[in-house]
Amino acid sequence: MSAHIAKDAIAKSFSKAASEYDEYARIQHVLAHELLTLCPRQDKKNVLDLGCGTGYCLPALQEIYPQAHITGGDLALGMLQHAQSQHPQFAYEISDAENLPFADEQFDLIFSSLAVQWCDDFSRVLSSAYRCLKPGGHLVLSNLAAGTLLELKQAWLEVDQHQHVNEFTVGTELLNNIDESAFTAVAVNINKHVDYHPNVRSLTDSLKRIGAHNLTAGRAKGLTSPSMIKQFKLAMEQQRHPQGLPASYAVLTCVLKK
Ligand SMILES: C[S@@+](CC[C@H](N)C(=O)[O-])C[C@H]1O[C@@H](n2cnc3c(N)ncnc32)[C@H](O)[C@@H]1O
Repeated sequence: MSAHIAKDAIAKSFSKAASEYDEYARIQHVLAHELLTLCPRQDKKNVLDLGCGTGYCLPALQEIYPQAHITGGDLALGMLQHAQSQHPQFAYEISDAENLPFADEQFDLIFSSLAVQWCDDFSRVLSSAYRCLKPGGHLVLSNLAAGTLLELKQAWLEVDQHQHVNEFTVGTELLNNIDESAFTAVAVNINKHVDYHPNVRSLTDSLKRIGAHNLTAGRAKGLTSPSMIKQFKLAMEQQRHPQGLPASYAVLTCVLKK
């Protein structure tokens, strides 16, 4: 994320969304399953799911690594409490991806699906994960790049000059961060995914209900007037495809080895 967002605001927003998250997280679940297919099929004893949210990926990680001790880490206490209630068999730890609270060389694998786009500095995420991995350990991670939610951004630009959509770091900068890290890249890709919605309410609700609505400092203060919402809806409708209203996601996926 290129514009700074306070960590407590992020934690609060996701904590509030915890109980409804899985019901609305359609694209997040699809992308999590795609990322799980990239996990190295070799024995891993100690595994961290970083930004585990509701713990959705934890049982799948246990299936891939049946012998592993698995920890779910997340910035949002509410998410971890929800995860623990759903999956009490795993360990949980409040964790900030930019400053992990774990020992050096603790994990054989760190998995992270669509969590670190909330961090200011991807290079700090990489160095923190590197420190906590054993030599030979893997980081399997996805992140969002600029181009994500571009249809919403374009539609709001027709309404006013406020920032209504979160800013995402440009893909080339994320790739440079990987190049400059101490990791060896096994696989790195940026792919576009499009999620379609029947109407504007469904699209904006899906972001709000998972806690991923706009938290950036330049967001419009106060209420958005009914006429602005009408203008926004019209601008979105102009982008309609036969499948519905598009919401694009530019997704960086990487498998990195220490
Ligand atoms: C979109 S959800 C993804 C949850 C889960 N990985 C999944 O795929 O269902 C993003 C999660 O990242 C967490 N998060 C945001 N910033 C974080 C940070 N700096 N460190 C750790 N977790 C963070 C949020 O609290 C939220 O639970």
